[in-house]
Amino acid sequence: MDTLERLVSEARAAFDAAADAAALEQAKARFLGKSGLVTEQLKALGKLTPEEKRERGAAVNRAKAAIEAALEARRDGLRQAALAAQLAAERLDVTLPGRGSTIGGLHPVSRTMERIERLFHSIGFVVADGPEIETDWHNFTALNVPPNHPARSMQDTFFLEGEKDTLLRTHTSPVQVRSMLAHVERHRDADPMPDLRIIAPGRVYRVDSDATHSPMFHQVEGLWVGEGVSFADLKGVVADFLRDFFETDELKLRFRPSFFPFTEPSAEIDVAFMSGALEGRWLEVCGCGMVHPNVLRSGGFDPERYTGFAFGFGPDRLTMLRYGVNDLRLFFEGDLRFLGQFR
Ligand code: PHE
Repeated sequence: MDTLERLVSEARAAFDAAADAAALEQAKARFLGKSGLVTEQLKALGKLTPEEKRERGAAVNRAKAAIEAALEARRDGLRQAALAAQLAAERLDVTLPGRGSTIGGLHPVSRTMERIERLFHSIGFVVADGPEIETDWHNFTALNVPPNHPARSMQDTFFLEGEKDTLLRTHTSPVQVRSMLAHVERHRDADPMPDLRIIAPGRVYRVDSDATHSPMFHQVEGLWVGEGVSFADLKGVVADFLRDFFETDELKLRFRPSFFPFTEPSAEIDVAFMSGALEGRWLEVCGCGMVHPNVLRSGGFDPERYTGFAFGFGPDRLTMLRYGVNDLRLFFEGDLRFLGQFR
C-alpha cells in the first residue's frame, strides 16, 4: 500500500470511529485541515519536477476526493443515526387509551339560582345585578338603616381598608335601591310608571362562620313595585314559587311576623314538608315584607302612590333542603366527590 492509499484508509477509519458530529469535525481537520495530512501531500508537490507533479498531483487529488467522499458518507450516517435516536425517544404509542376528559357540571347552588331565575322569569321578573363592593348608603342608609341604627350590628360585615363608606354587601337588598333608581330614571315620563319586577341573585358577606353560616353566602332578592301591589300578591307569588321550586303541593307555608327595617309589615316565611326526612319541621327560608315608604323614597318612588313587596331567599338553604345536604360548608370546599353528585 502506498502512502496515499494508507492515508485514505486511515481517514476512513478515523471518520468511522467518530461517534458524533464534533468528533467527525476533529478527524476532518486532521486530514483536510490547513495543516492536515492531505494538505501536507499537496504542499510536497512543489518539490517535484513538472512530470512527477502531474502524476503525483492527480493521485493526491484522487485520494483527497476519496477522503472527502468518506467524510460526507459518515456525516450522512451520523445524521441518520441522530434522527433515528430522536424518533425513538419521542415515539408516541397511538394505541394507548387516552386520558379522557370529564365534563364538569354546574355547582348545586348555581343550579338553584338558575332555577329560581327561570321560575320568576316565567311570571315577568327580570334579573337585576349590583356590585358586591357596595356603598354604605345603598347597603344600609337607603334601606332605612341610618348610621348608628341597631340593625346594623345584626349584619356586621367586611369594610374596605382606606375606603370610607365602602363594604362588602351584607345582603342583596341594595339591588332594590339601584333597580328602583334606574327604573324611575328610565320611565321618567311614563304615567303611571310600569311595574318594576326584579330578581337579584348574588353573593353576600357577613362575619359569620359555622356549620350553617359561611362568611360568603348567596341570596336572591325579589322586588315588585307598582300601583296597588299588596301583601296578598306577595303571598301568592312566594307560595307559587316555593311549590314550583320543590315540585310539590305537599308543602305548608307559614308567614311569621318579623322585623326588617326596610319592610313594613315584615314576615319570615317557614316551610314544612308533609313527607320525607324533614316531615313536619318548620324551616325558615325567606325574609319578606312590604317595601318601607322610606325605601321607596330612596329609590325615587312616591310612596303615596306606589307600593311594593320584597323578599330575600337564601339559595344555599334552598339547595340544602332540595338535595338533603346537612352542612353548608360542603358547598364551598370544592370537593369533587361531593360536587360530582349533582351533575
Ligand atoms: N335582606 C334581608 C336579609 O338579608 C332579607 C329581606 C329581603 C327581608 C327583602 C325583607 C325583604 O336578612
